[in-house]
Amino acid sequence: MSQPTIESILQEQRLFPPPADLAAQAEIKSAEEYEQLYAKAEADPQAFWAELAEKELDWFEKWDTVLDWQPPFAKWFVGGKLNITYNCLDRHLKTWRRNKAALIWEGEPGDSRTLTYAQLHREVCQTANVLKQLGVGKGDRVGIYMPMVPEAAIAMLACARIGAPHTVVFGGFSAEALKDRLNDAEAKLVITADGGFRKDKAVPLKTAVDKALADNGVPSVNNVLVVQRTKADVTMASNRDHWWHELVPAASADCPPEPMDSEDMLFILYTSGTTGRPKGVVHTTGGYNLYTHMTCKWAFDLKDNDVYWCTADVGWITGHSYIVYGPLSNGATSLMYEGAPRPSNPGCFWDVVEKYGVNIFYTAPTAIRAFIKLGDQHPQARNLSSLRILGTVGEPINPEAWIWYQQVIGGGKCPIIDTWWQTETGGFMITPLPGATSTKPGSATRPFPGILADVVDLDGNPVADNEGGYLVVRHPWPSMMRTVYGDDDRFRRTYWEHIPPKDGKYVYFAGDGVRRDEDGYFWIMGRVDDVINVSGHRLGTMEIESALVSHPAVAEAAVVGRPDDLKGEDVFAFVTLENTHPPSDELNSELKQHVVNEIGVIARPGEIRFADALPKTRSGKIIRRFLRNLASGEDIAGDASTMEDQSVLDKLRQGS
Ligand code: PRX
Repeated sequence: MSQPTIESILQEQRLFPPPADLAAQAEIKSAEEYEQLYAKAEADPQAFWAELAEKELDWFEKWDTVLDWQPPFAKWFVGGKLNITYNCLDRHLKTWRRNKAALIWEGEPGDSRTLTYAQLHREVCQTANVLKQLGVGKGDRVGIYMPMVPEAAIAMLACARIGAPHTVVFGGFSAEALKDRLNDAEAKLVITADGGFRKDKAVPLKTAVDKALADNGVPSVNNVLVVQRTKADVTMASNRDHWWHELVPAASADCPPEPMDSEDMLFILYTSGTTGRPKGVVHTTGGYNLYTHMTCKWAFDLKDNDVYWCTADVGWITGHSYIVYGPLSNGATSLMYEGAPRPSNPGCFWDVVEKYGVNIFYTAPTAIRAFIKLGDQHPQARNLSSLRILGTVGEPINPEAWIWYQQVIGGGKCPIIDTWWQTETGGFMITPLPGATSTKPGSATRPFPGILADVVDLDGNPVADNEGGYLVVRHPWPSMMRTVYGDDDRFRRTYWEHIPPKDGKYVYFAGDGVRRDEDGYFWIMGRVDDVINVSGHRLGTMEIESALVSHPAVAEAAVVGRPDDLKGEDVFAFVTLENTHPPSDELNSELKQHVVNEIGVIARPGEIRFADALPKTRSGKIIRRFLRNLASGEDIAGDASTMEDQSVLDKLRQGS
């Protein structure tokens, strides 16, 4: 792991205080109020979270112990019983929110649907009963591979209703990637659709499921439930495949929520790490419910008449926490959009904002950079005056993009909520609170109350202000991941042993480089491990390397990230070929497509460079640092004398 550098972050000095009218009505109204909350939580985190759990959530049975911390394993609200769908649905039915819009959905072709809390509850219960009919019970895992349609959220909630952990696989992953994840989770059933609409095309999904399941590819799966969306021709296997529209409307709408232990698993979500195999991040019920509820409420300052839109896909943690669970637990109106900006409608996002009067809008820096490129005329042609708060997530946002977002989309009046967090953290960890935090373009600002974030060196020693270091968290928090599914040891090694515990105190290692300034603001500098961030999508370089070497032509592969104006980073692969396969443009394209088949289109290398050999240490380790320099067209930095064969570097340089 290399020591992070701070050169990528400008010394940004501008400060944007919260708008006074917004602050006056906000949940957390001032910097003082934030400081008080933070100090209170720091002094006694357990009391802080217990008070909120009592006040904000409904429990069937109260917990006995707030936190059981046997590092690195945490249990929150031990002995407590609840069901997250009760908090997201049932409790709102007893109030005026019964007939409030829970989900507003806009399809890419222009069709739309609104589900009130009562309607959503009904359809979740019906779907849950169908799952039961198909043999799914408490503890059984269910795979979800869906486009952005309401049924994706309904499927997740139906699983949670009966205590069956879901594992949502992003629809952009290939059949191979889907198969690996379904096998790792030993899913019993898969919920999918014939396809979905994206960028004016019908993207198939069911065919990928068929491919993953072919030849008994996933022996644990017995049934597939299929939503009809695109009406594409699909093959339905008798005894295995069932149409959603035939089973769900016919099912009973009476399905009491399964009482779940606070620590029962809610879902597994796969994410990339430093090895070739994605890890199943496990989240449980009570702590996750509380934390996504609180962060959504305070960081987005949700008001009951708000229309809130998070543009993420439900296949990512952002979709889980901030399209489905966080907003619905708060009784908010959550908007889902199926499509993406495309040549035929580059302003489609702004059409949606105008059509529904969106008040809170949450997207990724990569999207913001794409909007800048598309031109100001698109947002300027729409009425965006309903917007009150703008959020961003997924990668560091460059100050230029931040300012554009604030000016052109927010009209200079909306706070920018730059939320730093991860699949593993479940919810926002470092984020402004819109009524309390003055923002600085490019900084995720200060930790959420209860989050003891810090900057240390690799030995765990504190790092001075404004010096780069590693981002750690010093105390467990309710929505932290509990383990890597089926691999406690990997969990311990990856997150808790990089930085050695001091005096028996363990710290969570996030894998990000960070700098904290003199005001206590955090500036995230990006990953310090072999993970790259392409358009806000997290990819493991080893995962892509494994995909490449699975092709018969490839002898060896090394993948690094190359800075990219639009995507943040792009995939750059160095490949040595078997003697039997001479380099050619056709082979180059074939290898790119091979990565798409193995992982998915998000992992497609921007460039593959053929090399005679890769730079290695005398002990045979690939020196990625040099490859990163080469990929970005920089001079080779640092000492090359540890290299086994100096001529390798000369050749690679000439090739560039
Ligand atoms: O490097 C950080 C970056 O995204 C990583 C987490 O990726 P993932 O688990 O896919 O979750 C993305 C959505 C929560 C982090 O380790 N990251 C996320 N948010 C930010 C960020 N980098 C800078 N600023 C952010 N706001």
